[in-house]
Amino acid sequence: MAKTQTRYVCQQCGRVSASYMGRCPQCGEYNTMIEEIVHAEPVTKGKSAVRGLTGRSQPRPIGEVSGDKEDRVPVPIGEFSRVLGGGIVPGSIVLVGGDPGIGKSTLMLQLALDMATGQRVLYVSGEESERQIKMRATRLTTGTDGHPPMPPNLLLVTETNLETILNHVRETQPDLLIVDSIQTVYLSELDSSAGSVSQVRECSSQLRELAKSSGISVFVIGHVTKEGQIAGPRVLEHIVDTVLYLEGDRFQAYRLLRSVKNRFGATAEVGVFEMRERGLVEVTNPSEAFLAERMVNAPGSAIAVTMEGTRPLLVEVQGLTSPTQFGNARRTPNGVDYNRLLMIAAVLTRRMGLRLAEQDIFVNVVGGLKIDEPAADLSIAAAIASSMRDVAVRADTVLIGELGLAGELRMPGQMMLRLREAGKLGFKSAIVPKRLRQGEPWPKTLEIIEARSIQQALELAMALERQKPQGRETA
Ligand code: TYD
Ligand code: MG
Repeated sequence: MAKTQTRYVCQQCGRVSASYMGRCPQCGEYNTMIEEIVHAEPVTKGKSAVRGLTGRSQPRPIGEVSGDKEDRVPVPIGEFSRVLGGGIVPGSIVLVGGDPGIGKSTLMLQLALDMATGQRVLYVSGEESERQIKMRATRLTTGTDGHPPMPPNLLLVTETNLETILNHVRETQPDLLIVDSIQTVYLSELDSSAGSVSQVRECSSQLRELAKSSGISVFVIGHVTKEGQIAGPRVLEHIVDTVLYLEGDRFQAYRLLRSVKNRFGATAEVGVFEMRERGLVEVTNPSEAFLAERMVNAPGSAIAVTMEGTRPLLVEVQGLTSPTQFGNARRTPNGVDYNRLLMIAAVLTRRMGLRLAEQDIFVNVVGGLKIDEPAADLSIAAAIASSMRDVAVRADTVLIGELGLAGELRMPGQMMLRLREAGKLGFKSAIVPKRLRQGEPWPKTLEIIEARSIQQALELAMALERQKPQGRETA
């Protein structure tokens, strides 16, 4: 068989070249030339490695297409199931991204072990040997009842050649295929090395074709670069049905599994896990976990209620101001957006008269969480102001509200969900923006304190707390 021909195509202007060029001679852009396979015949007759598996497509009247809700295969890991939208859709392809070492392989192996009780699972690894995976599996399953037997339906193989992997799939006929990771697999017909843009793109397209034509569910792991992009092309995210990110602070135990794209469910859904000795353990009540180590009545701490997908989460926001030693005052956010922090600091300076220009400001979201919701503005502002004045924010109060440049407070969405969650966790009151229109009555479980502006809100938040002793207790 003749070797498949490849060519280099500029992704900006479409210029074709036989060899790689760092700069496109036509449009002048750098690093836009990407290797592609040349299909000698029309694509329909081209010989792709998965052709052997595919049936022919057949147009049908819409009425005859079975349109029941997709049958989902339930996933025993509740938090995982929630992020997927209620189970695995057969024939779907899911990308699990995240920084190296965050726990992607661990999560996938746990999924494989759990699913293999009812389904056939093929776990292909290009990163670790079968022995290493076995050792990890032993570690994950060692419980109080000693070593339970390994599920016979979980097959392991170390392989990076995609054609060989597809052969294994043909022979073993799994229900679920896991590929760890997309950056290690390659097609021999492409000249470029594994992990390159063209390899990642071609391999994931073929895996997608496999999923669609055979009904096998495919999970691919992808590493994320420092800049937070899945290494390889963004197109990878377009090829797959669902993109999940496993994120969290490497030095913290909590891991968030977030869906950023989902053709079969809600996006921005979040599952919370904790990395323990024996793998990732679900955290079913994350708010409680995030607040567990809080120092009540310490200045510089405020409780925000953010929405992660459809789920409200209570998190502690800490602020610290400290006189600037030399030069410019620094603003160091951890878990909140830098520009958002600058804006909040500016509003506090201009509307509250706080002299923050001579202060370094540190803001930290406890638990390694990232909040990118304006609804947390008020609690960030309160944490900073509280540290600056050395007065604690009322411990039994949550603060919800978006901050405007004039110092006014705006109502974020999903207020009822947020307030109910706060009530459930034992908070007594909530400081919220003043309602200008009549809406659903506020929940009864909580005292609702409405404030028009940041001044009002902070006066209310820091009232009463001056005399109380400082102590380490949990809310
Ligand atoms: P891993 O799944 O290999 O990360 P990735 O595939 O995303 O690169 O996880 C690596 C980290 O997880 C490693 O630092 C050790 C830790 N870990 C635990 O804490 N407990 C466990 O049970 C396992 C299997 C791993
Ligand atoms: Mg790994």
